[in-house]
Amino acid sequence: DDLVTRMKNIEMIELGRHRIRPWYFAPYPQEMVGLPCIYICEFCLKYRKSKKCLERHLIKCKLKHPPGNEIYRKGSISFFEIDGRKNKCYAQNLCLLAKLFLDHKTLYYDTDPFLFYVMTEFDSRGFHIVGYFSKEKESTEDYNVACILTLPPYQRKGYGKLLIEFSYELSKFEGKTGSPEKPLSDLGLLSYRSYWAQTILDILMHSKPVGDNEKPIITINEICELTSIKKEDVISTLQNLNLINYYKGQYIISVNQETIQQHDKAMEKRMLRIDPKCLHWTPKD
Ligand code: COA
Ligand code: NA
Repeated sequence: DDLVTRMKNIEMIELGRHRIRPWYFAPYPQEMVGLPCIYICEFCLKYRKSKKCLERHLIKCKLKHPPGNEIYRKGSISFFEIDGRKNKCYAQNLCLLAKLFLDHKTLYYDTDPFLFYVMTEFDSRGFHIVGYFSKEKESTEDYNVACILTLPPYQRKGYGKLLIEFSYELSKFEGKTGSPEKPLSDLGLLSYRSYWAQTILDILMHSKPVGDNEKPIITINEICELTSIKKEDVISTLQNLNLINYYKGQYIISVNQETIQQHDKAMEKRMLRIDPKCLHWTPKD
């Protein structure tokens, strides 16, 4: 029954030091449903129906970080790359956890075709999951993100844009442009629009004049190459920002003072950034 299966079925989760109220249905097994709270190991993501059961699990579970390879570390932020085929159990449990906060994405039971990039924050107790995105190993549509999530206790602090920035850094390493899988949620779209706008404005304002021209000249294709943002997303962003104008028979990009000032302010607030020097990764093919 569609109505029943779509109803929110988990009251509360405990994950590390967080208690989080789920937003949506997730297909946890029947014995997990209807409890006041389920208990999830913050490192391996296995779930248990009571605190006692989790405590028993924690005696055996020696993980202090996600499985897979740590491919990025700067300060307390790390990224781990997890292969959905090699770490199937972890990948499935991550998808289940994420589904609690994703409305419309279908849950992929088959995690084999995906890589998972889990972002963690380190302290003396371990590498704590903040969020993640998944990515198809091969995408015919140039998708560089399938699902993306910041866990609710960490939302609205800039981690979402950090995940997005990381996904484009991987695309730059691959020498490709990419785009998130559609449809995006409302929050996903807000985050991407903000990331695209800031990234493109930064390029426009820092591109150097070419030749004898007073003003910098940059083409849309060059913006794509520099950012790995897919052409249609660059164009829609320029249109949303009202930066494309038709002048004397051609399209020109022009940025006004007000937009520049707003952009400068926004970038000052954007403290969390990816440092490409800290990425140790080679694309697999
Ligand atoms: N209301 C209004 N604006 C919001 C918002 C909210 N609830 N949440 C995020 N934003 C805006 C922020 O203002 C920010 O823009 P700004 O920097 O220009 O102000 C931008 O979106 C990104 O914010 P950030 O803090 O970097 O993102 P986040 O860590 O909160 O994560 C998501 C964003 C989308 C990953 C997060 O909301 C999430 O996990 N949602 C549930 C899963 C989902 O919908 N995923 C996307 C579809 S697959
Ligand atoms: Na979505």
